[in-house]
Amino acid sequence: MKFLEEIEVKGKTVFLRVDFNVPLDDNLKIRDDTRIQASLPTIKYLLQQGAKLVVASHLGRPKGQFNPKMSLKPVARRLAELLPGTRITMAPDVIGPEVDKLKAELKEGELLLLENVRFYKQETDNDPDFSRQLAQDCQVFVNDAFGSCHRAHASVVGIASFIPEKAAGYLLKKEVDYLSKITHHPAKPFVAILGGAKIEDKIPVLESLVTKAEVLLIGGAMAYTFLKARGLQVGKSLVEDDKLEIASQIMKKAEDNKVKLLLPLDHVLAASIESREVAAIAGNYPLPQELMAVDIGPKTIAEYKHFIKSAQTIFWNGPMGVFEVEAFAKGTLEIARAVAESGALSVVGGGDSIAAIHQAGVADKISHVSTGGGASLEFVAYGTLPGIEALK
Ligand code: 3PG
Repeated sequence: MKFLEEIEVKGKTVFLRVDFNVPLDDNLKIRDDTRIQASLPTIKYLLQQGAKLVVASHLGRPKGQFNPKMSLKPVARRLAELLPGTRITMAPDVIGPEVDKLKAELKEGELLLLENVRFYKQETDNDPDFSRQLAQDCQVFVNDAFGSCHRAHASVVGIASFIPEKAAGYLLKKEVDYLSKITHHPAKPFVAILGGAKIEDKIPVLESLVTKAEVLLIGGAMAYTFLKARGLQVGKSLVEDDKLEIASQIMKKAEDNKVKLLLPLDHVLAASIESREVAAIAGNYPLPQELMAVDIGPKTIAEYKHFIKSAQTIFWNGPMGVFEVEAFAKGTLEIARAVAESGALSVVGGGDSIAAIHQAGVADKISHVSTGGGASLEFVAYGTLPGIEALK
């Protein structure tokens, strides 16, 4: 895979795929511009080098329909603030004669932001004809959209066949460099922390980590599918009954590989999430039938911290409980602080774990906060992603 600085872009029309899938509020104001900031180095470099820059992204999941609520117009306005003095044009569409005309009119150092690529169903279908139209008049393809690289979509994968000169931007390179340290020969002990609601989204990464990590710390609702698979009665806690078998297989694999797969020892219990208050803390089974687990308990926090402290490499994705509710946030925030203080090479991915890192005020102590949730999980699972392979 080539890197941006290895290719000549002066005077060329460059198609840059970024992940500007940013959260918007009800008034369509950007709530968090981290993903825009993260690709600024690539954008600035290309503009300074005299590229004619066509920028593309998706926002949300408009399912192939034009939807003004998912327009990239707010992003164009933010880009104008972040790049004073740069001529920025917002395209009314993604492909078509009007867009082709705007592309042709671009001068060196100017930027054209296309509309949301997912306004076309052909984007998620990775349609070759749509890919060709995206590539129209572009001589270079740069991908900086790490957060979208697990999607084999037209602007991420398909387009690469129609533009021979291609490279990774600064953000994509940085993400791959850090995540490769985890997937290829991580410094040991390698401790992986996985949480969140469902096993379903995490099966490939779990199957990979039970062959790579020394310790796997499990929290969040997904832990209760594992505990139930061990034959324990977990009250009203969320369980994926159709995943009990796969949970057992993962635990068996961990045992065969001598990987320590740890589950919560004690549980913060509540009558419901809406109650917003702790009903009990318990470590004995059966858990009361009318209560559900909403956070890891104090014994679990102490045990997990012990392993985090001795880690050399840490990968964390997913909260330990319902941390949006103050009464149920302790486990997740304590884990965030422990990761920050560990001194290990630490990579955190996934919106919720990133929010927890910020809530705990420790983001600057994490080696790398990934801009991709699903993408970082899939990279750890498979060691590469469709969008990365397309650049090769
Ligand atoms: C993300 O937010 O994780 C990426 O932008 C990918 O979005 P998607 O899950 O809608 O493909």
